[in-house]
Amino acid sequence: MASPPPSLLSPPQVPMELHKLNREKLVNALREHLTKSSRSVEGFVILQGGEERTRYCTDHAELFRQESYFAYLFGVKEPDFYGAIDVATGESILFAPRLPAEYAVWLGEIKPLAYLKETYMVDKVFYTDEIARTLHDQHQGSDRPSLFLLHGLNTDSNNFSKPADFEGIEKFKTDMTTLHPILTECRVSKSEMELALIQFANDISSEAHVKVMRETKVGMKEYQLESIFLHHTYMYGGCRHCSYTCICATGDNSSVLHYGHAAAPNDKTLNDGDMSLLDMGAEYHFYGSDITCSFPVNGRFTSDQSLIYNAVLDAHNAVIASMKPGTNWVNMHKLAERVILEALKKGSLLLGDVDDMMSKRLGAVFMPHGLGHFLGIDTHDPGGYLKGVERPTDSGLKSLRTSRELEEGMVITVEPGCYFIDALLGPAMKNPTISKFINCEEIKRFEGFGGVRIESDLYVTSDGCVNMTKVPRETHEIEAVMAGVPWPPPTK
Ligand code: GLY
Repeated sequence: MASPPPSLLSPPQVPMELHKLNREKLVNALREHLTKSSRSVEGFVILQGGEERTRYCTDHAELFRQESYFAYLFGVKEPDFYGAIDVATGESILFAPRLPAEYAVWLGEIKPLAYLKETYMVDKVFYTDEIARTLHDQHQGSDRPSLFLLHGLNTDSNNFSKPADFEGIEKFKTDMTTLHPILTECRVSKSEMELALIQFANDISSEAHVKVMRETKVGMKEYQLESIFLHHTYMYGGCRHCSYTCICATGDNSSVLHYGHAAAPNDKTLNDGDMSLLDMGAEYHFYGSDITCSFPVNGRFTSDQSLIYNAVLDAHNAVIASMKPGTNWVNMHKLAERVILEALKKGSLLLGDVDDMMSKRLGAVFMPHGLGHFLGIDTHDPGGYLKGVERPTDSGLKSLRTSRELEEGMVITVEPGCYFIDALLGPAMKNPTISKFINCEEIKRFEGFGGVRIESDLYVTSDGCVNMTKVPRETHEIEAVMAGVPWPPPTK
C-alpha cells in the first residue's frame, strides 16, 4: 500500500482584497467617529511600515517581518514603506523607498511603482521622498491637512506604537490620539478572508504538531521536536515565520511558561516518563496560530499524567462549550480554574472546599497565566483593554490579556494549564491562608513533573464558537497517534 503523502495541504493564494477591506473598515469607523464628534471628515491616516535592521553593528540583515498595523492595512511585505489613506475619499497611497541602482545587483529587480500599485491593490504609489508634496497636492481644503498618526499603548508589552515621521511633517496638523483605538478595534473582529488565513496557519500547524507527536522518542533533544515542526510548516505550508519562538519543554521545563528563549534553548534530552509541553504556531501572510499540545514522550500516559492532563482537558472543553457572544472572559478563566481545582481535589492533591479555594485565589498557584488572548496578525493581538475595559487585579486574573465579553468574529486562544512551579508552590505552602488546601504528602510526587497546557484557537460565531485547531486531544487519541494510527481518523 502506498504511504500517505507527508501533507494534505498546500499554501493558499493570498487575496490582497483582504487589506482593501481592512482599509474600508477603518475609514468607515473613522468617519463615523469624526461625524459623531462633530469634526470634519477629512485628513489622512498615515502609517510608517517596519524598517530593515541589521544585527548590531554588522551588515547581517535580520529577516524582515512587517509591522503589524501596517501589515493589516496594506499587506506589504517589504521594509521601509509608508502608507496613507485619504479619509474623505478612501483613496489609498503607498510610498516606496527610492532604491539605489546597486540594489538590482545585490538584492534583485527594483520593482516599478506600477507593479506595487497592482500587487498591493492601492490607488496610487509614490516614493517616500514625495510624501509631504503628495499629501498637500491631494488635499482639497484650504487649511493645513490633518494627519492621523498611530500612537498608543500595547497592553501586553507596555510599548507604544511608533507614529509615522517623515521630512516635511511639520507642514501638517497632527492628531496622535484618534487613530490607535479605532484601528485597534478594527483588528479585534476578523473578516472571512482573515479567518481563512488563520485557519490555514492552524491547519498546517496542527498537521505539524501531529508529525512531531509521531516522531517523538525518548533520547531525542527538545530542539529536534522544534526542528520537525519548523520543517513541516515551512516545507508544506510555505510558512517562513512562526508566530512566536517555539516552546518545546519536557520534564520539569514544562513548568517554565515561556521556555525556549536564548537562555533555555529547547536543549534538554527527553527522558522516559517525561511529559512534554509543545507550544508552537506557524504564521502565514502575517496571520498566525498558537497551539499547545502536551503528551508523554514515551507515548503512554501514567495515571498521574492522566490526572493532570484530563483536569486541563476538562477545563479546555468546559470553556469552549460555554463560549458565545456575551460570554465574560474573566468568568471563563474562573471556570477553567474551578474545573482544574475540582480535579486536583478529586485526585487528593487538594483538600477542602473549592469555593473557598476560589475565593483565596488558589487557582493562580497552578495556572498563573491568563486563560487566553486575541490572535491575529500578532500572537497577542491587540485590543484586550480598549473601551475603558479594566484589567482585573487579583492574582492570576491580572495576567489576563483581555477581560472583555466575547463578540462574533473574535479569534481567541483557550489555553488552560496546570503547572507545578517551585517558585509559586514554595511560597504557597508557607502561606497559611492557602497552604491548608494543599496535601503536601501527595503533591510531593509532582516535584519535577513540570506542567500541562492545552491550547486551541477559537473563533466566536453568532451563537457559539468554532475550534480552528485540529489535533488529537483525548489521551486515547494521543496514544493511538503516537503508536501510528492515522490522524485525522479515517472516516467510515
Ligand atoms: N503561546 C505563546 C504565547 O502566548 O506567548
